[in-house]
Amino acid sequence: MSVMRTKSIEQSIKETDDPEFQLKKKLTALDLTVFGIGVIIGAGIFTLTGRAAADYAGPSIALSFVLAAICCGLAALCYAEFASTVPVSGSAYTFSYASLGELVAWIIGWDLLLELMLGASVVAQGWSQYATLFLEKIGITVPASVAPGSHFDLPAFVLVAALTALIAIGIKESLRVNLVLVGVKLFIVLFVIVAGLSYVKTSNYTPFIPPATAGKASEGLAAPLIQVLFGLTPTTYGILGIVSGASIVFFAYIGFDVVATTAEEAKNPQRDLPIGIIASLVICTVLYVATTLVITGMVKYDKIDPKAALASAFESVGKPGFATLIAAGAVAGLMTVVMTLIIGATRVTFAMSRDRLLPPALGRTNPRTGTPVRLTLIIGTAVALIASLTPIGKLEEMVNIGTLSAFALVSLAVPVLRSRRPDLKRSFTVPFSPVLPVVAALISVYLMVNLSVETWLRFLVWMVIGFLLYFTYGIRNSRLAVRAREEKESSVTSG
Ligand code: ALA
Repeated sequence: MSVMRTKSIEQSIKETDDPEFQLKKKLTALDLTVFGIGVIIGAGIFTLTGRAAADYAGPSIALSFVLAAICCGLAALCYAEFASTVPVSGSAYTFSYASLGELVAWIIGWDLLLELMLGASVVAQGWSQYATLFLEKIGITVPASVAPGSHFDLPAFVLVAALTALIAIGIKESLRVNLVLVGVKLFIVLFVIVAGLSYVKTSNYTPFIPPATAGKASEGLAAPLIQVLFGLTPTTYGILGIVSGASIVFFAYIGFDVVATTAEEAKNPQRDLPIGIIASLVICTVLYVATTLVITGMVKYDKIDPKAALASAFESVGKPGFATLIAAGAVAGLMTVVMTLIIGATRVTFAMSRDRLLPPALGRTNPRTGTPVRLTLIIGTAVALIASLTPIGKLEEMVNIGTLSAFALVSLAVPVLRSRRPDLKRSFTVPFSPVLPVVAALISVYLMVNLSVETWLRFLVWMVIGFLLYFTYGIRNSRLAVRAREEKESSVTSG
């Protein structure tokens, strides 16, 4: 069947030499790790932690972070194996094109686009909230009509527009800015941990796992799919609360997979991509668990501010100056996340247009900057509009479901590619395959069914649009389709 056709790895690598679609190979292992941390630490820890602790898990939110980290860690191993085998731009999309076939590849690319574009929009909204808070603290008020939460979020719009311009100029330049901002962000997170430690009251940790109670926020379309499917009574807290918490704070880890989207721009992808992916994930997990333990130790879980938990925790212990500093750090820190997610989105669509699953004119690189300028502008504009015009708090779960579905498919693709192409050089391999990849896929699916019915419906709509695009454009125009037709024609003529 044509939708199952796969693109050979050799072909993928060869096409990266096409001068019209060429990216510059400049990044080192350290660049990639910094890039990873830059995109991982963001709105998740700065804003979602508070909401997840208050509404789902209490102090055991730290365990939610561990559970989400296990899910991501297993998926990261699979991503690392792929990235070390198929060092081509496009991440999960390219991996699955080589193993599971064109249709699955298209679906994954489409999911990644959801993850990256909406992710950038969510974080831009979070940035706008912190920026407004910070400006207020230094005496500048953003007019209510264009503040976050109004009909048009001006700060979010301006941020995305400025970052898009920066990205279009060149990736190395944007990574240099990234490096400084990541430094600021790491400092702030470490500051929260160290400065907060002395305010921790052990009494705030009891009960560590608050007893399950009848849930309020999870009825109707907002209920997790698993509850509706199996007729479970809605609950908050307890063991199930830890799992629901994990499916929400999963957002905080999103981004290590984006490292794989820059594969083609790495100097030595086989060695450096696995290092970049795994190192950034490990560093962030340690920081997250420490931060959540400190915050839930400083403030009783039912008193945690669901919006700006980190800054508010310091206000509540009488340190408003620290709160201002943290708000400033969040402003710098969230900026890099938005930028990296936009870069990721352009690289995935770049790979798709190079394969002609999207019109090729979109993906051409500009010879002077060595970046796909046209795509960058299109995606930047879309993100700016989504970030400034959609209500806050509506998109996070969509990002999670898009990412988790890509994780599940990528994990399953690892054993498939091993059995199809045992000959390929793999400088990194997932241990205990196929057991670990299958476990990774199952955990991803389990977290997915813990997301709300509403999210599933929106996700299905997105998928339907994707299928329509594929069956009206990609299936006929992809490079593989065209090649298959040419081969058939030439065999008819010569026969
Ligand atoms: N992991 C990123 C964040 O938390 C997307 O903002």
